Amino acid sequence: MILVNKTHLVEEKQLPIQNFRIVQAVDQQDVLIDSKTYQSFQQLQKHLEKKGIIIGIDGAYRSFRRQAQLYREFVEKYGKDYADQFVAPVGASEHHTGFAIDISLKEKGRWLSQQDDAMRQEAIFPQIHEELARFGFILRYPKGKEKITNYPYEPWHIRYVGKKIADDCRKHQLTLEEYVQKKLCRKEKGCR
Ligand code: DAL
Ligand code: ZN
Repeated sequence: MILVNKTHLVEEKQLPIQNFRIVQAVDQQDVLIDSKTYQSFQQLQKHLEKKGIIIGIDGAYRSFRRQAQLYREFVEKYGKDYADQFVAPVGASEHHTGFAIDISLKEKGRWLSQQDDAMRQEAIFPQIHEELARFGFILRYPKGKEKITNYPYEPWHIRYVGKKIADDCRKHQLTLEEYVQKKLCRKEKGCR
């Protein structure tokens, strides 16, 4: 369990890349991802398929260099304000850990882009969110918690934390920031 956000940065040399494996994203590009995260993702994928929901990997691990490049691309495409809102600073992205996945949805044989078919995605993503905890994932940037996570709602970004933490977060409606805070708090005397 590692908390990564704008105030908890990682260093590139700390990352557990020995546990990474190469898999294919929906655009057929190779991407790196933590092995256990991928295993659990495959189980989630199979489970959702039975419900008629097809998901794939849009992105997973990102190097520091790739994160910096992504930020520049977003600034060019959507402007600095948008990039600052949606793209984490280098060292502050969970994608550095290999435990985060951006999900793509497939409909009528076509992978939808994040900006595409917003209404359809709005309807489908909540059905996916319902199933995340049983496979050890949390929705990392939920609606209503923007002030705590420091990011707008990102229905596509899921984070592997293992079943126990995922279940705790789901039961008590906690973000990872709140979960970590609560855990620290429990250790202190008199803190509820
Ligand atoms: N979009 C998320 C916050 C990231 O860049 O890591
Ligand atoms: Zn993401």
